[in-house]
This record gives sequence, C-alpha cells and structure tokens, in this order.
Amino acid sequence: MAFKVVLATKNPHKVEEILAILGDIPGIEWLTFRDVPFSDVEEVGETLEENAILKATAVARETGLPALAEDTGLEVEALGGAPGVRSARFAGAGKDYRANNEKLLRLLEGVRNRRARFRTVAVLALPDGRTWKAEGVLEGEIAGAPRGEHGFGYDPLFIPEGETRTLAEMPPEEKNEISHRRRALEAMRPILHELSSGKLRL
Ligand code: IMP
Repeated sequence: MAFKVVLATKNPHKVEEILAILGDIPGIEWLTFRDVPFSDVEEVGETLEENAILKATAVARETGLPALAEDTGLEVEALGGAPGVRSARFAGAGKDYRANNEKLLRLLEGVRNRRARFRTVAVLALPDGRTWKAEGVLEGEIAGAPRGEHGFGYDPLFIPEGETRTLAEMPPEEKNEISHRRRALEAMRPILHELSSGKLRL
C-alpha cells in the first residue's frame, strides 16, 4: 500500500517541478490540489521557514494526511536580500510574474553588483503537528533583460553561477537538476523514505 502525501501548493509550476524531482520514491503516492481539496493558506510569516511551516501544517491538519510544502524567495545582494520572503508580491498583491521582473530590473538599473540567490525551504508536516525542514540554495546573478520561455517567476532573469543561460533558457530537466528546489527536496528524501518504508510512525 502506498503512503499518500499531499503537495501543499496550488502553483502548478511548483507541482510539476516537485513531482519531477521526488515522483520516483517507491511507496509514495503524491496527491495534488487536483486530487484533494484544501484551503488557501495566507503567507503571513516573516521568513520562508515560517511560511513553509504554516502551509505544510495547515494542509496536513485539514486533509489528515502528511503534507509537503515549500516556500521560495529570490534574495538580491544589492537590495539587502529583497524581494526574499515577499518575492510573490514584490510589485504588489495580485501583480504577475512580469510586473515583478520589471520592478526588479528597474531597481537594479545601473547597479553593478548583480549577485543573487534563490532559497527554498521545504517542510514535511504530519497531521499530528510533527515537522521536518530542509533548505536548498542556488547562487547566481540577475541578467540585464529577461531571456527564455521555460520555467516561471524570476527564471528569465536568473543566471546560475557558472552558466551563461538564464534558468528560463534551460529545458525543465536541466533546471530541475541544479535548482534550489531540487537541493531542498533532495535533503528531504531520507525522511520520505522512512515514511514510505513504515519506519516513521504516523
Ligand atoms: P512562493 O514560494 O509561492 O511564495 O513563491 C514566491 C515567488 O517566487 C513566486 O511567485 C515566484 O515569482 C518566485 N519563485 C518561486 N520559485 C521560483 C523558481 O523556481 N524560479 C523562479 N521564480 C520562483
């Protein structure tokens, strides 16, 4: 019998990437917002960690199933780490990816230091409130203009260290090999194996 784990996100891009990274774990059946309904969780935390815990614990409680959430932020050195935890609503609530990217480029006009990093914090929560946390970072820099059609969010502006292409210029498999999300989720793999092998008492 497979263990059901809910992906606590309604972002279809994230669902696709998480399933591409962790979908191969034997004994785990991943459920998404398309399979099991759950309420939106307001991201009112001050840190990525707080938001990831909020999302995972709320969905685990509501569905009665283990839930995996992640919160991701883009931290730009010259902006003191902004947009960070506010990456989704950088250009204002309800604004889209393009508006966020335009705002970022505007703020960096004439700025020589383009260093930035993506940081993902992943959290697995059980319905009884126990949680496990893991983090992944991808260092890089902000391009002068958006390039590429793949990915989502800030991908067209982010050039990983050692690369010339933006994340949006890479095919999804390549992004998923090196991404902040991959690094956080790989660190989560051992606890997911414990869950699927029955070693972790539910
Ligand atoms: P959240 O983790 O859902 O709060 O995402 C915050 C925002 O960061 C999203 O709205 C995207 O704009 C951006 N973001 C999250 N993950 C990625 C990624 O892998 N690439 C590019 N942008 C991302």
